[in-house]
Amino acid sequence: MIEKIQTLLQRVEAFAPQTAAEIEEFRIKVLGKKGELTALMEEFKSVAPELKRELGQKLNHLKSAALERINTLKGELEEKQMAQSSEVGDMSRPGSAEGLGSRHPISLVKNQIVEIFSRLGYTVAEGPEIEDDWHVFSALNFPPEHPARDMQDTFFIEKQPDILLRTHTSSIQVRTMEHQKPPIRVICPGRVFRNEAISYRAHCIFHQVEGLYIDKGVSFADMKQSLLYFAKELFGESATIRMRPSYFPFTEPSAEVDVSCNLCGGKGCNVCKGTGWLEIMGCGMVDPNVLTANGIDPKEYSGFAFGMGVERIAMLKYGVKDLRLYFENDVRFLHQFDSAL
Ligand code: DAH
Repeated sequence: MIEKIQTLLQRVEAFAPQTAAEIEEFRIKVLGKKGELTALMEEFKSVAPELKRELGQKLNHLKSAALERINTLKGELEEKQMAQSSEVGDMSRPGSAEGLGSRHPISLVKNQIVEIFSRLGYTVAEGPEIEDDWHVFSALNFPPEHPARDMQDTFFIEKQPDILLRTHTSSIQVRTMEHQKPPIRVICPGRVFRNEAISYRAHCIFHQVEGLYIDKGVSFADMKQSLLYFAKELFGESATIRMRPSYFPFTEPSAEVDVSCNLCGGKGCNVCKGTGWLEIMGCGMVDPNVLTANGIDPKEYSGFAFGMGVERIAMLKYGVKDLRLYFENDVRFLHQFDSAL
């Protein structure tokens, strides 16, 4: 019986059919109800018990080898036929078009902001989204009772020590000053979190770009000129800016920057609410307390900082009226930015 198994195995291995019919015929002959393997299985029942183990293993091996051989041969034959059929084989047919993805408008605008400042010599710095009180507030001269620390605005993860989601990218200023000595010129894009009700103009997650420039003799005029250049690059050559006095704990003096409304050219429309101006960012001269807290001598160095919301800039640039659209991932909205690459 061993011999019979052996020869059948050899025949299985050597089997080289040309057609599917030949394979089927072979399958019936070997594995079918009246097939050779089935007959061997029958014969096995009356084998002496001491031979059962060895023969059983051999028979099992033969069976799986036969099944595998038949399946492989079938697959090979199908592949050959596919390749031969004109539908697949005609190499001159045009390929099927791949649907290209597009960048998210927030990424587009963020990249553009970063690119404009990199032309002025700024390099990109990043920081963690989960932060501590020091980097988000204390090192930035926030008094302990400042309302921005309030539970209303900040998502706290742990209390004492305070671990929280950063509420602004100004925390990256602190991280940069920790390991870099002036001159410092960084642009810091990132995601920020605030415990705010979601509406057409606010979201609890949004994006900011922060800028920081520290060197000897940096003046308010340097800041104004840099931000004017930025506004013209982003909104067009005819854009102008104005600065209004403001307050931030980490800058002194501080200002709010408005850009001339690019929709009405400054005449007044419903987007700029008739004023002709659109608020785009906050800025100011880095407060000496911030420099001192971060190991930089304010008598030797000065600097300016600025921060803007990417969603807001993107809304103004593309005339988007509802900020929530940026988070819904509706392809009908996103596809409108395909060509804005
Ligand atoms: N961190 C401020 C905010 O989240 C934005 C800002 C204002 C950043 C003025 C600055 C700045 O660096 O100088 O509202």
